[in-house]
Amino acid sequence: MTLTPQWLDELRARTSLSTLIGKSIKVQKAGREYKACCPFHNEKTPSFTINDEKGFYHCFGCGAHGDAIRWMTDQRGLPFMEAVKELAATAGMEVPAADPRAAKRAEQARGLHEAMAAAQSFFEDQLGGLDGGEARAYLGRRGISDATRRTFGFGYAPDARGKLKTALRDFGEPMLVEAGLLIDPEGERDSYDRFRGRLMLPIRDIRGRVIAFGGRILGDGEPKYLNSPDTPLFDKGRTLYNIDKASPASRQTGRIIVVEGYMDVIALAQAGFADAVAPLGTALTEHQIERLWKMVEVPILCFDGDAAGQKAAIRAATRALPLLRPGHSLCFATLPKGQDPDDLLRASGAGAMQAVLDAAQPLIERLWSHELSAAPLDTPEQKAALKQRLRDITDAIGHPDVRAHYAHEFRERYSALFFARREAAPFQPRAQGGGGGQRWQRDRRGNWKPPIPPAGQEARAIGAGGMEQRLLRAVLAALLRHPEQIAPHREMLSGLHIADPLLGQLMDAMIRCSFRKETVETQALLTILGQGEVYNMAKGMLRADTFTLTPNRMTTDPDRVARDLEEAVRVIAQGPELEAALVEATRRFESDFSEANFAEQQRIRALKAEHDRRLAELAQSEDSI
Ligand code: UTP
Ligand code: MN
Repeated sequence: MTLTPQWLDELRARTSLSTLIGKSIKVQKAGREYKACCPFHNEKTPSFTINDEKGFYHCFGCGAHGDAIRWMTDQRGLPFMEAVKELAATAGMEVPAADPRAAKRAEQARGLHEAMAAAQSFFEDQLGGLDGGEARAYLGRRGISDATRRTFGFGYAPDARGKLKTALRDFGEPMLVEAGLLIDPEGERDSYDRFRGRLMLPIRDIRGRVIAFGGRILGDGEPKYLNSPDTPLFDKGRTLYNIDKASPASRQTGRIIVVEGYMDVIALAQAGFADAVAPLGTALTEHQIERLWKMVEVPILCFDGDAAGQKAAIRAATRALPLLRPGHSLCFATLPKGQDPDDLLRASGAGAMQAVLDAAQPLIERLWSHELSAAPLDTPEQKAALKQRLRDITDAIGHPDVRAHYAHEFRERYSALFFARREAAPFQPRAQGGGGGQRWQRDRRGNWKPPIPPAGQEARAIGAGGMEQRLLRAVLAALLRHPEQIAPHREMLSGLHIADPLLGQLMDAMIRCSFRKETVETQALLTILGQGEVYNMAKGMLRADTFTLTPNRMTTDPDRVARDLEEAVRVIAQGPELEAALVEATRRFESDFSEANFAEQQRIRALKAEHDRRLAELAQSEDSI
């Protein structure tokens, strides 16, 4: 297909740019031009202008500039030909077809698109109608709002063999079979509706046209989802669910999230994460990875923390290796075990999801930690096998520069792991209480005073990151419930330098309390806190049953509580220590590029990465918001 410049000019001339842009964002007339808040960067006062006469838009803020076609490719994320086709359809122009066969295919596709659109209306009507009661109730039970239901075009396929067939008979049976809406058993028997008694989800292409359906059974049963077969409109391996809405959203957020299921995408959108897509029940294909990279350089892949999820993550990572190129990669967010994003949002809210995304691991980190834990590393042979596995990964990378960097990075991590000669005293994260030099002291009047950190070597305060703060609150809440646990952990607790003044005061009060002779009880603790902000916060923490450190809220097993607290406090305490140690090791390495200094710096970096992973895990999996 060749498009002449004349034809494209005609297309631009027949397109009203302000109307086109007005479909996506709010535009205001300003003299002979139009103004809007620029969709390409964040702003509150409009610096984006549209000139219909010239057929251009221009942003004085960020310099975004283009014509109608550019708008469709840059803002809507359409490939060039798709952009042209959509504009031509609006302008009432025929896109010149290269050969008669292509023209025929286009004609046929048009028919199929119309059939799919008609099926979509049919399903939506059914959901609103008498037959749709059970499906509506199901949506209600899953917490899907009416607005979400409309945005995602939910429908219902009645539990009958021929209702759709009858409703859409004008399209003719062959076309409905071709569109995957009817099943044709061949031979004598009649064709019948493919989707029966299912909640229907339209699958759309980048232009928002329905190209397939996924149908979910109401309640339990097999298969859970029935999907359209591949048709001339629908190629499963090249489709991403919700790309029509996620692509423009990703332009705002600079992010794209990949999850496993339809319902995950929908729950995410309802919770404010509009930039999520899902493949259709299969592992990501190369084509889908390339499609993601058209939206952002490093899409975030979300996987379940269980064994199956992690296997899927590694499969995706492996598939991406040959495709990697400068700038483009993947990163991996790990969900709490056994929860998909829909479950997580329901159980713990948008904050928990955000924390999962924030803790996403870069591809190299994911591969490295996978290989490190894939097999034992005790014998020389096992250690050498790790090297072999790392080399296999590197060899699979297509791009020479990316490959070289992976090889280098793996080599260094590998030598740091096994061949590090440690000259400077290696950094040891505190394993237990008692190691730190900072202790509470009695002043002259016999009152306990918190430790004063020695000048110069002060690590940053706790609670800088959302996750750390969350875990800290969970720890304090657990201590309020189990005040007998304060004394055994006092040493470590008193080493914590807490950023939030209220939380800090609460901790100080608890520690003071624990020095008293009598057994500390929650009520006694509250009395000591007196009335005021700290008291109110503590009361609030006791009331909210979400503040818990153990997944099973009913746990009163003191050993379990003690163990959980022990680890949580240790992890919290290590964050600033590791950061400070890393800064120090990096400084030492940069002033003296010795192998030993480098190895030590790498080792701390690995400890820090492991720490971050564990922190994220604890902060989420323990429901500790
Ligand atoms: P899941 O089994 O994880 O389902 O399948 P889900 O998305 O959590 O669904 P709900 O929450 O129970 O409704 C993930 C994806 O795999 C595909 C679908 O695309 C689904 O969204 N799938 C799953 C099928 O195609 N067929 C099936 O029978 C099951
Ligand atoms: Mn689910």
